[in-house]
Amino acid sequence: MVSLGVKIAGLSLKTPLMAASGTFGYGGELLLAVGAENLGAIIVKGISLLPREGNPPPRLAETPCGLLNSIGLENVGVDRFIEEKLPFLRKHDVPVIVNILGDTANEYRDLAERLGSVDGIAGLEVNIGCPNVEAGGMSFGTAPAASALVTEAVRSVWPGFLMVKLTPNVTDITEIARAVEAAGADCLSLINTVRGMAVNVDTRKPRLKNVIGGLSGPAIKPIALRMVYETWRAVKIPVVGVGGITSALDALEFLIAGASAVQVGTANLVRPTAIREIAQGLRDYLASRDIPDINDLVGSLIL
Ligand SMILES: Cc1cc2nc3c(=O)[nH]c(=O)nc-3n(C[C@H](O)[C@H](O)[C@H](O)COP(=O)(O)O)c2cc1C
Repeated sequence: MVSLGVKIAGLSLKTPLMAASGTFGYGGELLLAVGAENLGAIIVKGISLLPREGNPPPRLAETPCGLLNSIGLENVGVDRFIEEKLPFLRKHDVPVIVNILGDTANEYRDLAERLGSVDGIAGLEVNIGCPNVEAGGMSFGTAPAASALVTEAVRSVWPGFLMVKLTPNVTDITEIARAVEAAGADCLSLINTVRGMAVNVDTRKPRLKNVIGGLSGPAIKPIALRMVYETWRAVKIPVVGVGGITSALDALEFLIAGASAVQVGTANLVRPTAIREIAQGLRDYLASRDIPDINDLVGSLIL
């Protein structure tokens, strides 16, 4: 028997595999395909104070080994999330982590306060990759001070599990990671999508109406892995790896490079059973190598 259980900043997960925000909807159908016993946590689609329509289509384009999206943070808003989505999600024996987004630090704080008033939420994941409307639209997550401001705003009203999700579209991710750690985050998740674009040479139009989108999938895995490794060495709080994980071997690379857990995103869109298969692959790996506990692998990279 091998153990896949992990504990991150006090939160116990049955497996180190979380469903990444935006790729698992609000948890409904995919949860059935994956099986609650294989899923460490569900991270729901980013929620804002008011509903958002997102960007106009086309907003998905496939690229070699990757997916470009410009969904633009479409969501039902916090009130409908609490009324319509949360009751289903909390019926299952899987921790629900709510991904939040806002235009200002105060909006993030108000959202966290509202979510703190209901039961059934195991933690928050703060997406700091959003435009900071008060600072000319530059993403919060590209500046250490703005990243810290959002983290502090949420921390001031949310005493529970607080994970901050970092954007890779920065020069030095460890600067941001350290600022967020000092501002009170319990753990970090990384990476969000990498800014990219694609052009249709027949029409000469961009493949995304929004022109620029976020790249995800296997194409970004080496970038994500490098950033997880750099961040793990720079901070004391746990790091959750995200980016291009489609197999147990991918997940193992992240764990060995320092991640305490991982998130699976785009792979869910390709194979709804991906997380189930990855969980089984991790059990097989441990059993075949006589490693009793997945935690033994975390940060075990041999240089
Ligand atoms: C269609 C789509 C929607 C996404 N929506 C969100 C979101 O609402 N909030 C967020 O923090 N990340 C969002 N992401 C980013 C993913 O959670 C993840 O960080 C990224 O896709 C990299 O992981 P992957 O390569 O496994 O997909 C989205 C990604 C995709 C593909």
